[in-house]
Amino acid sequence: MFILTQFLIVISQEITWTNYSFAFPQFIPLIADKTVFSRTFEEFGQILNISIEYNGDFQESICNFEYQSIVFRQQPQTLIALVSDMQQIDIDNLKTEEIEQGFSEELISYAIIDRDVILLEKNGVVHHLYYNWGPKFTNYTIHQLSIIQDGNENQQILAGNDSYYYVDNNQFIKFIIKNGSLEQNKILNWKKVNDHFKLFVREEHFYLINGIHGIKVYKVQNNILLQVNSFVIEDFQRDFNDVNLNLVDYAVEDDWLYLLDLENGVYRINLISMNIDRKFFIAQKGCKVISIRNKQIILIQQNQLFSVIYEGRIIDDGWMLIRMRTTAKQIIRNTYQFNSYALLISNPINNMYQKGLIDKFTDSQLTKGENIYQMELLGVQEMDKTYAIGIYKYGVAIYFAYEIPAKIICQGKLSQQNRVTIRLNSTNCLNKNQSDFLNYCQNRLDYVFDIHGVLMSPHQEDLYIYLCIVAFSIVVGLFLAIFFIIRRYQMKKEKIDQLRKSRRSLSY
Ligand SMILES: *[C@@H]1O[C@H](CO)[C@@H](O)[C@H](O)[C@H]1NC(C)=O
Ligand SMILES: *[C@@H]1O[C@H](CO)[C@@H](O)[C@H](O)[C@H]1NC(C)=O
Ligand SMILES: *[C@@H]1O[C@H](CO)[C@@H](O)[C@H](O)[C@H]1NC(C)=O
Ligand SMILES: *[C@@H]1O[C@H](CO)[C@@H](O)[C@H](O)[C@H]1NC(C)=O
Repeated sequence: MFILTQFLIVISQEITWTNYSFAFPQFIPLIADKTVFSRTFEEFGQILNISIEYNGDFQESICNFEYQSIVFRQQPQTLIALVSDMQQIDIDNLKTEEIEQGFSEELISYAIIDRDVILLEKNGVVHHLYYNWGPKFTNYTIHQLSIIQDGNENQQILAGNDSYYYVDNNQFIKFIIKNGSLEQNKILNWKKVNDHFKLFVREEHFYLINGIHGIKVYKVQNNILLQVNSFVIEDFQRDFNDVNLNLVDYAVEDDWLYLLDLENGVYRINLISMNIDRKFFIAQKGCKVISIRNKQIILIQQNQLFSVIYEGRIIDDGWMLIRMRTTAKQIIRNTYQFNSYALLISNPINNMYQKGLIDKFTDSQLTKGENIYQMELLGVQEMDKTYAIGIYKYGVAIYFAYEIPAKIICQGKLSQQNRVTIRLNSTNCLNKNQSDFLNYCQNRLDYVFDIHGVLMSPHQEDLYIYLCIVAFSIVVGLFLAIFFIIRRYQMKKEKIDQLRKSRRSLSY
């Protein structure tokens, strides 16, 4: 069971509110049962809570409100499994044991660049697919990297600008896939890396993030690795107390490399100047996963029996914690952030929840998020506005992933005038102080619905249509009659003219 326990609100006292309301009530004429008023609430960001009040001739609930939501659905027939005899079977329909028997190999790393998807199996098999509009995968090819198989650890693939890279603790290989075949080159000078590490490439620099050993920055020239920079534990120390450092994960946004230190918290390095930002620090111990998107940061602490998810916003020198959730009996292995939603990846139940909502002010139906049963998901990546790719231990699938704004639909059944007051608390509004992250909005929107009954009953309407048809037929008939009379007159006139002409020609 996926149980979410909401914890204390750490920052509730920091929240400030902006008031927003219409200058005048909006006047909306409607025809009962016929016309509908509807609007979306994009400019209000995420709606936290809403109340609708009616003040009219009847206590009729004429408006129907729906909160923002996300559709995240696997496209039928897009799941591609790697083992051929199981290719036609949806992984969801199998039991874990069946999958374990059927899929002896599994994917351990993936890289997506533009629309090229590459997937790595432990034994060096590389799968290459092209994500095509449609949406579908095309040009699927499978290749074998020649790697030294000797207790390889931390096997990863990376995508550079014009080539891919394979790396593990013992070897570093550059490869390209051209005309359906794989060409590989060994990168020399890669020294055996001890302990856990992660490597990523950005603008031809390779960043090795290596637990207690700090960071090394490399360049590759003529297939030789050259170290251009390094940061050791002492470089990050803020005082003599934090002697331990263990960099376990990273995130990159806006030229900043955020480094997650299991022992202390989050540091950052400017990727342009290559300097550690001395002022910046997030004190949050014990986290293993970091994710940042649009300054929204998620840190995940994994424990044996539960995980803790911290959601905050990066501000000048640190963060503001917005929410803290715990998941019972579950290890959240990874997370992927959409604009307003985050997917917490766990096996087999993943949770999609809304970001930016503060429990204390939020309708409880929104705070739990929605569970998505999906086995062995490694990660997700958006490809465009409507589709994302999900990578599993055993294959890939395409998801329809679409964020829907909150919306209201109003329609009256009875003839009346009804003043509807909508109060909503939201993360955004038109006059919000945008430089204050924790400035939320209390909005009041007034609509006056002037609802008139329909002019005719359905029976009258039918009769009316019938009469219209009759009247129309009469008009057409008259028109045709006049046309024929004129035509006949013209023909007669032509005949007389011709007779006259021929008589004249005879007389000559
Ligand atoms: C909005 O938030 C304010 C302040 O917490 C609260 O008093 C009010 O009831 C909320 N309104 C709605 C519609 O939730
Ligand atoms: C996919 O394969 C087709 C046919 O071999 C080829 O014409 C096309 O260029 C390929 N597309 C990509 C993106 O590689
Ligand atoms: C949401 O709004 C309703 C109606 O104003 C109110 O009764 C409720 O307490 C609010 N809930 C939260 C969590 O603010
Ligand atoms: C907007 O918020 C910032 C940061 O909290 C604050 O310094 C500033 O005074 C605010 N501006 C207005 C107009 O309230």
